[in-house]
Amino acid sequence: MAHSPANGHAHPGHSADVTKRDLLQLIAGAGAAIGAGAIAWPLIDSMNPAKDVLALSSIDVDLKPVVAGQGITVVWQGKPIFVRHRTPEETKDVRATKLGDLLDPETDQARVKAGHDDWVVLVGICTHLGCVPLGNKPSDPRGDYGGWFCPCHGSAYDVSGRVRRGPAPTNLPVPPYAFESDTKIKIG
Ligand code: FES
Repeated sequence: MAHSPANGHAHPGHSADVTKRDLLQLIAGAGAAIGAGAIAWPLIDSMNPAKDVLALSSIDVDLKPVVAGQGITVVWQGKPIFVRHRTPEETKDVRATKLGDLLDPETDQARVKAGHDDWVVLVGICTHLGCVPLGNKPSDPRGDYGGWFCPCHGSAYDVSGRVRRGPAPTNLPVPPYAFESDTKIKIG
C-alpha cells in the first residue's frame, strides 16, 4: 500500500531542505564566530586593567624555536606582540620597496634592530579599529604583501609590519625591545 503525505513520511525534498538549512546555519554560525573573534580584542583589552599583568613591564622571549618563515604571538602588557623570523628573501623584498609606494613611509631598517635584520617585533593590533590581524599561524592568510592580513576590513601589512592597503592608516607599531643575545629578546 502506498504511503500518502498525510502519514508524515512522504515529504519529497524534506531531507534536502534540512541539509540546506543546516548548511546555512553553519555558515551563519561561522560568520558570527569570525565576527566575534575579530572584535573581541578591544573589548577584552578595555575590560582588563589586570594589575598583575600590567606589572609585568617586560618579558623575555626565547627565539630558538622560531624557524625562518615562522611567527609567534606573545602577550606583553595585555597586548598581542607578533614576533616574526623572516627569511632572507622576505627581508630583501621589503627593503626593495620604494618609500613612495608606502601609505605610511618608513624604512624597514628603522623598524628592526641592526644586526638582527631577520627579526621583526610588532604590536599585533590593526591600526584601523583594533582587530588582531592574521598571519602568524601557519594556516593563516598573510595577505597580498606576505606579512599580515586584517579580515575586519581588509587591511594588509608587509613583512616589516608596514601598511600596504588600508583602511588602516599607519604601520603596526614597534614596541620597545632589545636583543639580550642572538636567541633572546626582552620586550618592554
Ligand atoms: S580593524 Fe583592521 S582593517 Fe579595520
